[in-house]
Amino acid sequence: MDKLIVEGPSKLNGSVHISSAKNATLPILVATLLCPYPVKFVDIPELMDVSTILKILQSMGLKITKNGNELIADASNLENQHADYSLVKTMRASVLVLGPLLARYGVASVSLPGGCAIGARPVDIHLMGMEKLGAEIHIENGYIKAKCEKLKGATITLPFPSVGATENLMMAAVLAEGNTIIENAAMEPEIDDLADFLIAQGVKIEGAGTSRMIIHGMDIKALKPNPKSYRVIGDRIEAATFIIAAIMSGGDVRVEGFIPKHLTYVLETLTKMGAKLEIGTDFVHIKNSPRLKGAALETAPYPGFPTDVQAQMMALMSIVNGDSIVTETIFENRFMHVPEMGRMGAKVTLKGNSALIEGVETLSGAPVMCTDLRASAALILCALVAQGESEIQRVYHLDRGYEKIDEKLTKLGAKIRRVKG
Ligand code: UD1
Repeated sequence: MDKLIVEGPSKLNGSVHISSAKNATLPILVATLLCPYPVKFVDIPELMDVSTILKILQSMGLKITKNGNELIADASNLENQHADYSLVKTMRASVLVLGPLLARYGVASVSLPGGCAIGARPVDIHLMGMEKLGAEIHIENGYIKAKCEKLKGATITLPFPSVGATENLMMAAVLAEGNTIIENAAMEPEIDDLADFLIAQGVKIEGAGTSRMIIHGMDIKALKPNPKSYRVIGDRIEAATFIIAAIMSGGDVRVEGFIPKHLTYVLETLTKMGAKLEIGTDFVHIKNSPRLKGAALETAPYPGFPTDVQAQMMALMSIVNGDSIVTETIFENRFMHVPEMGRMGAKVTLKGNSALIEGVETLSGAPVMCTDLRASAALILCALVAQGESEIQRVYHLDRGYEKIDEKLTKLGAKIRRVKG
């Protein structure tokens, strides 16, 4: 298992280009299952989660051709509609294959993703929605076994705006008979990007990015190959991570290649805390931020504060003037970075789903262990500004969602090296 050795503190300077969004790339690659023709992409990020989803799709017969930063996914001839436990267990997003498989083939057998480090994360909303569209579903030997004659459009009201369930149902609805209305749909930018990809294939979708989305069902023969390569949006979570890194280090950094509007809540919070940000249409320039002051925040579905930036924000809050409070409302067990940050001198007290963070003067380097993707990001941020050496173990969590993070940070002046293991 690889580890990272970080020598702190360092001041970051320069510019960094953000990769395509992991959380948009995954559903969009899955959506190629709907298309009976090759689909071209540019700038698919090199991430472990992307390799995992490609392996799952290939196990069903999807053909992948890679040429430099271009990728062609061809689902013209799929061989089976089975997503095996051995692959699904490593990544929850794999359950997204359910919708397109059911819609196109009327059958799917998809392993239940099971629990994960940050909470139970059931898929009941996905299944409820599929049933509304006319699927018969039962759970057998740990698998979701689903079948239908032909899915039929329906109005589905989600009890919670689940990102994954919204995506799964959007894809299922594309080949259903008639229109589907998703009420209380998730509004994350990644949903909008999936809608844009589907629209580029000739699908008619109204209201993407709002809480009421209408997907017009169509015949598979009416889907049209798009001659243009699709480019996924920049990763707002990676961008937020670099913005926070720059602020924590007191450096001067331009973070480019994403849409700052997707981070409005985060940028407003940072500005209120005292950060000096120049916000463009596709960049944020962080200018030698002073030491910030504490804040109170609560995670919420988009456009609220993203749970995927909560851990990184807490890393920042650990070295501001005064106290901060963070309340996590999306996942029940998303404070695993707290004990590890404590080993570096952060003062955080947990109470239920809230954390009280007492800002300290400095952190100190320590050996720490990654536990999940965003928790790992928080640890790397702390290590960058801590006095002395930190050894960050189990870096594979970080590699799931951050493309070449060590190389990007090194280019900005961080002293960081990867030890292969
Ligand atoms: C996606 C993102 C993840 C992000 C999360 C919330 C991807 C690949 N992952 O995950 O990075 O942290 O959105 O912004 O895009 N829930 C149920 N039943 C369901 C579905 C969800 O109870 O059927 C609950 C979950 O347990 C969780 C909450 O709803 O507590 C949010 O889940 P959801 O929005 O579905 O997140 P994901 O799509 O898994």
